[in-house]
Amino acid sequence: MSVTTATASPPALGFATLEREISVSELPLAGELPPWLAGSLLRTGPAKFEVGEQRMRHWFDGLAMLHRFTIDDGRVSYGNRALESRAYRAAREQGRIAYAEFATDPCRSLFRRVQTMFTASAFTDNGAVNVGRLGDRFIAMTETRLPVQFDASTLQAGGVHPYRAPGQLSTAHPHLDRDSGAMLNYAAKLGPRSSYRFFAVGPQDTRPRVLASVPVSRPAYMHSFGLTERWFVLAEFPHVVNPLELALSGRPYIENYRWKPERGTRFTLVDRATGQSVDGFETEACFGFHHINSFERDGEVVVDLCTYPDAGIIEDLYLDRLRAGKPPTMPSATRFVLGLDNCSVNAQPLCQGGLELPRINYRAGNERAYRYVWGNGGGPGGWLDRIVKVDTDAGETHAWSQPGCWPGEPVFVARPDAEVEDDGVLLSVVLNAEAGNSFLLVLDAADLQELARAEAPHHIPLGFHGQFDRA
Ligand code: CO
Repeated sequence: MSVTTATASPPALGFATLEREISVSELPLAGELPPWLAGSLLRTGPAKFEVGEQRMRHWFDGLAMLHRFTIDDGRVSYGNRALESRAYRAAREQGRIAYAEFATDPCRSLFRRVQTMFTASAFTDNGAVNVGRLGDRFIAMTETRLPVQFDASTLQAGGVHPYRAPGQLSTAHPHLDRDSGAMLNYAAKLGPRSSYRFFAVGPQDTRPRVLASVPVSRPAYMHSFGLTERWFVLAEFPHVVNPLELALSGRPYIENYRWKPERGTRFTLVDRATGQSVDGFETEACFGFHHINSFERDGEVVVDLCTYPDAGIIEDLYLDRLRAGKPPTMPSATRFVLGLDNCSVNAQPLCQGGLELPRINYRAGNERAYRYVWGNGGGPGGWLDRIVKVDTDAGETHAWSQPGCWPGEPVFVARPDAEVEDDGVLLSVVLNAEAGNSFLLVLDAADLQELARAEAPHHIPLGFHGQFDRA
């Protein structure tokens, strides 16, 4: 047996294009699936990093591929398909990158650029970040206002969903309104007068309802937001953009943002019912993509986030750096406690060690005091190489890892009759860099013991987010 040393470097295979589309009725399975577990893990992620002679520059730019692991009667089937977005179709038909992605921008005239900025007509619909469900439709999302519908069994795309976010930018991390079943999301409306907005889209709606609008002159990069029973929570990291520059600079989208640490990190609470906002919560500069959870308690709002010291993580995730094996900056999990009386902000680490791609028992714990977070944790060398469970009460962390393997986001699925928060399983797509393929890993969410794994016949490039759709 060869001795495997845990490597710090992200595996190049994780950023290698996958074009093969397959459908397999039964994957080789080791272990045993819980009998109650039935449904599909639907995931998206970047999978095509070259178009003709052109190369995507950033991990977030890759053209999306959908993956489906369906668990039924103790067996696992699998299918994958490129997301037939208009960005994908144009790339295929023209043999070049046709739409502006996160950090890759095809040449466009100044006229086209301004038109793009203020009408969003040429924004990408490359839904490589997350998937969601709106009524009976599934959508693949990126950070524009153009979610692409798809069929959850065939993964065939069905065009852009008719609703339009009330702004050019949005997030791929909507929340659920427990009362109405509506999808709640954020949008940034950019222009001479810019604003942050929150909106709701009901399961059958084709138009969003704007719930709040907060004026802003230099919008911050916003990947997600928090929700409590009363508030929308905005964490404004000091990575900000001049909207006019975004329209006119000629630089790719994200390269128009500037790191301004002197602004600090600012929290804004927006009342979900009235749209009124409360601001003035400021603390030291940091950066982050993901809210973990938020909740209210005795005159305080608790906001848990995955944080980085600065926005350098965006540069760390350019493909040339990743493929060269340069370890990205490690994320931390940080708890910010906002005092409503005096606008104080108290920041404390939520756990030791890194944490990214966080998941919680959403139905039981979102908006509420909660105890457990699952996510990907970092090894001593710097890349996310393990699945971790954090007990936020006890401050303890448990981990699952296997040498040479790189697990993706662990999606929590509760046991149907669960009475405790961590009763369920985690589903994670793991890249086995040594074997050259990926597998679906099923862990007991309570103790991170492996229950089963189903081997996919090819590698699945490292991706971001997915959801479990119960049968
Ligand atoms: Co995300």
